[in-house]
Amino acid sequence: MAKTILITGASSGIGAATALKFLQKGWNVALLARRMDKLEKLAKGHDNAHAVACDVTDEASVIAAFKQAVDHFGQIDALFNNAGIFPVSGRFDTLTLESWQASVDVNLTGMFLCAREAFRHMAASGGRIINNGSISSISPRLNSAAYTATKHGITGLTKSIALDGRDLNICCGQIDIGNARTELVENLIKNADGPMDTMDVADAANAVFNMANLPLDTNVLSMTIMANKMPFLGRG
Ligand SMILES: NC(=O)c1ccc[n+]([C@@H]2O[C@H](COP(=O)([O-])OP(=O)(O)OC[C@H]3O[C@@H](n4cnc5c(N)ncnc54)[C@H](OP(=O)(O)O)[C@@H]3O)[C@@H](O)[C@H]2O)c1
Repeated sequence: MAKTILITGASSGIGAATALKFLQKGWNVALLARRMDKLEKLAKGHDNAHAVACDVTDEASVIAAFKQAVDHFGQIDALFNNAGIFPVSGRFDTLTLESWQASVDVNLTGMFLCAREAFRHMAASGGRIINNGSISSISPRLNSAAYTATKHGITGLTKSIALDGRDLNICCGQIDIGNARTELVENLIKNADGPMDTMDVADAANAVFNMANLPLDTNVLSMTIMANKMPFLGRG
């Protein structure tokens, strides 16, 4: 029987590329995001795709979206907890509460709500949750305190879910991606001082697929995949 994955933030970027990969590999894919027009375009021609409107910051919306996906496909085997934003940023003393709060709402509370809902559905027969962190979960970009703090938070969330899920056959891992070409990164490139090295988003999608395709007695707890020439490593 085909396996089922829910992908949040499936309307663009890494989420859309990952959805296509799983669809091509014959998985059932529930596509979650707010922009239904984009999800429906992606789902078109794929009998194994199901588009579901979801705002990950809204508890009722998350609960309803997961129920709709389970009603449609009958089960959830995996969640790619991917929806995220890079809020308007600036030097730390100029960071607004609004921008901080927006980042926490989507990147941390949204990830928590979706992971909790997946965990509840997986409690009876196991499953896998893959959280999309970032290189920023390890080391910050300049002027990005809100994004960086939430992405560091995701690492704690990942480890806690992996531990709490251990006896229930629920695996949890985190993928930390560096500079995959998406709308989010295109916006960063526009505001960057110099050139930014990037990688193909399809390679990030392949990495998520490989993590998800493992048996439930095996877990990739943490994976870093990045544009090889980006200045992540190195010191003066
Ligand atoms: N690209 C990279 O190199 C990179 C590196 C590190 C980490 N990441 C992480 O990868 C994830 C995806 O980023 P991306 O680069 O693919 O950016 P993107 O193209 O801007 O995609 C962001 C996705 O998140 C969804 N989203 C945002 N707010 C949402 C909300 N309130 N409810 C539901 N969905 C929401 C958007 O869908 P709607 O607007 O339709 O709701 C969209 O599908 C993020 O968590 C980001 O931090 C990306």
